[in-house]
Amino acid sequence: MDLTVKNKFNEYRKIVDESLDKYIEVVYPESIYKSMRYSLLAGGKRLRPVMAIETALLFGAKLEEILPSACAIEMLHCQSLIHDDLPCMDNDDFRRGKPSNHKVFGESTATLAGDALLSYAPKVIIDKTPSSVKPETILKVLNEFFIAAGVDGIISGQIVDIDSEKKKISDKTLDFIYEYKTAKLFKLAVRAGALIGGASDKQLSVLTDFAEKYGHAFQIYDDILDVTSTLEELGKTPGKDENAEKSTYVSMYGLEKAKQQVLFLTSQACDILKSNNINSDILQGIVSNIVEGIK
Ligand code: IPE
Ligand code: IPE
Ligand code: MG
Ligand code: MG
Ligand code: MG
Repeated sequence: MDLTVKNKFNEYRKIVDESLDKYIEVVYPESIYKSMRYSLLAGGKRLRPVMAIETALLFGAKLEEILPSACAIEMLHCQSLIHDDLPCMDNDDFRRGKPSNHKVFGESTATLAGDALLSYAPKVIIDKTPSSVKPETILKVLNEFFIAAGVDGIISGQIVDIDSEKKKISDKTLDFIYEYKTAKLFKLAVRAGALIGGASDKQLSVLTDFAEKYGHAFQIYDDILDVTSTLEELGKTPGKDENAEKSTYVSMYGLEKAKQQVLFLTSQACDILKSNNINSDILQGIVSNIVEGIK
């Protein structure tokens, strides 16, 4: 990502951070709000909300029209991370460079904080989206949100991920895991942006294809980093996939093939944007970031 794009990315990221801080305040019962805010404001790259904002602006939306949805998507993402780290799931003590939610607040509160973020998020979309966005568009975004969050999205990805530990799985099952636990959330981000920006059906479908390629590449990249990176760099415990005997692209095909697949999928993702005249320095930059990361 070049410096101008990085600056623009960071500008969006700052707006997301400030809005998240504003959307959830600590009131009674304080412990649950504190736990929600702990994970939500612990940092994180904010890739999904930035993608949502960029896509919406690309199609002519105003920032305030997409911001509630962008933040709701980050809340959903955060929920998935809090639950993913629980001892009954991936059992990771670190997230975003800090102790995981359950290490600080305990498992009961962490479980409830995840639930709370998940149910709070769509309320943010409903309550905070300005009236310049048509109610039918808000309904469409909510529909997309519930698809990604539920059994048509992350939940099915996570269950197959967990069920595939210590097992030999097919390519098809591996694809399913990546599509559902990871790509669906990136699809939600660009689709929410495209819907609020008033993109055509064709543009919506092009962006969905882009997010699919990017999402798969992103998860393979995450699996690579689990093997090659450190706690300091990652902010989460490395080597966890191997310890848990997870089925990943890396465990099934090795590091070299995984890197090649990331290059293949990211170049497809860029081609999709180019050949459909979607000119976004931020989306291109987000893709190039993982290409640079594996070199
Ligand atoms: C982590 O996502 C979960 C995966 C889908 C691999 P990110 O790498 O985007 O996590 P944060 O938001 O930056 O912490
Ligand atoms: C990410 O998979 C999927 C979700 C959190 C929904 P991982 O389990 O590989 O994510 P990290 O590595 O813990 O961030
Ligand atoms: Mg996991
Ligand atoms: Mg995990
Ligand atoms: Mg991982």
